[in-house]
Amino acid sequence: MSVAVILVAAGRGERLGAGTPKALVRVAGVTLLEHAISRSIGTKGLTQLVIAATPGHQDEFLALASPHVPAGITLTVVTGGATRQQSIALALAEVDHTAEIVLVHDAARAFAPTEVFDRVVQEVRESGFGVVPVVAVHDTVKRAEGEEVLETVNRSELRVAQTPQGFPAQLLRDCYAAVTEEHTDDASLVQSLGHRVLSVAGDRIAMKVTTQDDLILASHLVGGEQRTGIGTDTHRFSDDDAKPLYLGTILWEGERGLDGHSDGDALSHAIVDALLSAAGLGDIGSNFGVDRPEFSGANGQVFLEGALDKLHANGFSVINVSAQIIANRPKVAPMRERVEQALTAIIHAPITLSATTTDGLGFLGNTEGVAVVASALIQQAKK
Ligand code: CTP
Ligand code: MG
Repeated sequence: MSVAVILVAAGRGERLGAGTPKALVRVAGVTLLEHAISRSIGTKGLTQLVIAATPGHQDEFLALASPHVPAGITLTVVTGGATRQQSIALALAEVDHTAEIVLVHDAARAFAPTEVFDRVVQEVRESGFGVVPVVAVHDTVKRAEGEEVLETVNRSELRVAQTPQGFPAQLLRDCYAAVTEEHTDDASLVQSLGHRVLSVAGDRIAMKVTTQDDLILASHLVGGEQRTGIGTDTHRFSDDDAKPLYLGTILWEGERGLDGHSDGDALSHAIVDALLSAAGLGDIGSNFGVDRPEFSGANGQVFLEGALDKLHANGFSVINVSAQIIANRPKVAPMRERVEQALTAIIHAPITLSATTTDGLGFLGNTEGVAVVASALIQQAKK
């Protein structure tokens, strides 16, 4: 029986707050999208993979997915809708009519192992019903209203629902054509229209990545070696009163700029060095030759993105970066949050910024320049 997998990856990942669609966030050097694809692709009988992509990111999703999909399996990327359910409806319209079983899987459950896909397919095939992978609830469960605990719930009948959820293709099409209200999963959608749903054993590693905490947990589950790196950079203040100050890729209004062949962004450069040194990939000079004409006046983002590309190509992802500005001027506190946000949006990992002075000592105490120290923690995927 031929199987199609719909991989819903069109969400924005608002609760994760990574500044990029959740499916593009990396755990142990690999995007969640690719983690999910590489585990889906081994499903027995798979003939088609349909990915619902975040609007505006279809090309990126296709480029990431293509190398993982072998000949003989059709890859289709559709633009997702406003809700999970709409994304699935759009993907379902692209499922080939020869597919007899459709599995719907959340890219957010990127680590669901292939065995779960196979178990679901087998149960759909044998029963002809909808099938949901579940895990038992081992915690004592309370019902509460605000802070008030009302009662302890009998957990023996409770199950936590996971994905991939599987259905006979025609049943799922009929249900999507008939449904009028929104459901959070497909088993409940199908059930709301009067159809039976069975369960098979899920797997705890099929956890859903929703918040930063989940990402940390996931990197412990699937991540390999962690490495730290340090970077420093120092630039002198420009004699030119009109030179703007760029630190952390953004403009610091009303502050004197720093000299440098690029835009003098010591903060971005120190972070680049920290990232490259953690990965053992040299430093900003050896990688970018910062005196090269194309980098004249270049914004720090150019170097940060270049360094990230090199890390990703070597199977590393960034866990976090911490940087400290050592200077009398500029005052960092008013800009801290904006800089952290700008850098996090580029690096897609938490960046924290602090500041200190040298108690008036030396060239930093004389306000001759700005120095930055940065450290980065990165991780490689498990071999
Ligand atoms: N999803 C989708 N289309 C949407 C919304 C969600 O395809 N319009 C997908 C997500 O990409 C995810 C799955 O449905 O794989 C479960 O959704 P959720 O975990 O809520 O992901 P996001 O919507 O991205 O996250 P958030 O709600 O925090 O923004
Ligand atoms: Mg959501």
